[in-house]
Amino acid sequence: MQENFRKDVLEGLSNKPQKKLSSKYFYDATGDELFVKIMALPEYYLTRAEMDIFQDKTSELIAAMQLEKEEKYDIIELGAGDGTKTIHLLRELQLRKFSFEYYPVDISLNALEGLENMLLKELPELKVKPMHMEYFQSLSRLKQDGNKKIILFLGSNIGNMPDDEATEFIYQLGANMYPGDKLILGVDLTKPKELILPAYNDAQGITAAFNLNLLHRINRELDGNFDVKEFEHYPVYDENEGIAKSYLRSKRSQEVNVSGHTFFFTEGELIHTEVSRKYNDSIIKKILSKTDITWVEKVTDSNNLFADYILLRH
Ligand code: AVJ
Repeated sequence: MQENFRKDVLEGLSNKPQKKLSSKYFYDATGDELFVKIMALPEYYLTRAEMDIFQDKTSELIAAMQLEKEEKYDIIELGAGDGTKTIHLLRELQLRKFSFEYYPVDISLNALEGLENMLLKELPELKVKPMHMEYFQSLSRLKQDGNKKIILFLGSNIGNMPDDEATEFIYQLGANMYPGDKLILGVDLTKPKELILPAYNDAQGITAAFNLNLLHRINRELDGNFDVKEFEHYPVYDENEGIAKSYLRSKRSQEVNVSGHTFFFTEGELIHTEVSRKYNDSIIKKILSKTDITWVEKVTDSNNLFADYILLRH
């Protein structure tokens, strides 16, 4: 892990013409904490919008899922986090006497333990089987158990992948599913810049700290000497493209060492750190066209900011 991190950072900072670092390295302990704060920000509408779907449109969601009482289901949530959205779906499925087990998958053991305790208390009858492993490892382990699968991939987490990667990811999900299995994909929708940009540039500067933490992490873990105050958070959103991008901008010309390698920055030079793709029906259809997964239904929140697409492995 550490060696992958080092290799990716050294490569990314050498990349021409655009230096880059991967957003997957945001999430150390500090990054996890900052992301929890981001989800509670007034500007970060994504989490509340998807919560509205799970909490207030539970019946619509369940109808769209077209479940059968005779079937046994594995509900597998990739990157389950704290489960505060999913619990509403699980509770309602239990009330309606569907037969299922819940498999939250996360690489954070901390998150999984918190989630299991919360569910044990709130839904004591629920069968919860936490899986502390990589997404595809959990799917291949469950593939042969004979139950129908419902995979949840929420929170617009797919948005951190460029479209070609998202296509490959969904294709690989499909390879781990049987015909008739379902995928619930939660995505943020395209909308005007005035709404999107503040979500990635909040007034309190939490998102800035989240982005800049990557430089602190490199200093801590890879023997780096980034002078973090000489860099700033620089988010952009291109409405035509529908992609929010985050950068770190060098405030002056400077030299930085990481693991014994030296990197030069000109004043104003950018390091690309994150893409947050925004979607609409045609973008989703285009991505799905190269997979074994098809469109069934879509449930949106009351303000039409966010959608959960109900998709089928055919
Ligand atoms: C966790 C990928 C959905 O892109 O909106 C939040 C991460 N980055 N603020 C997103 C994030 C900056 C978030 N996702």
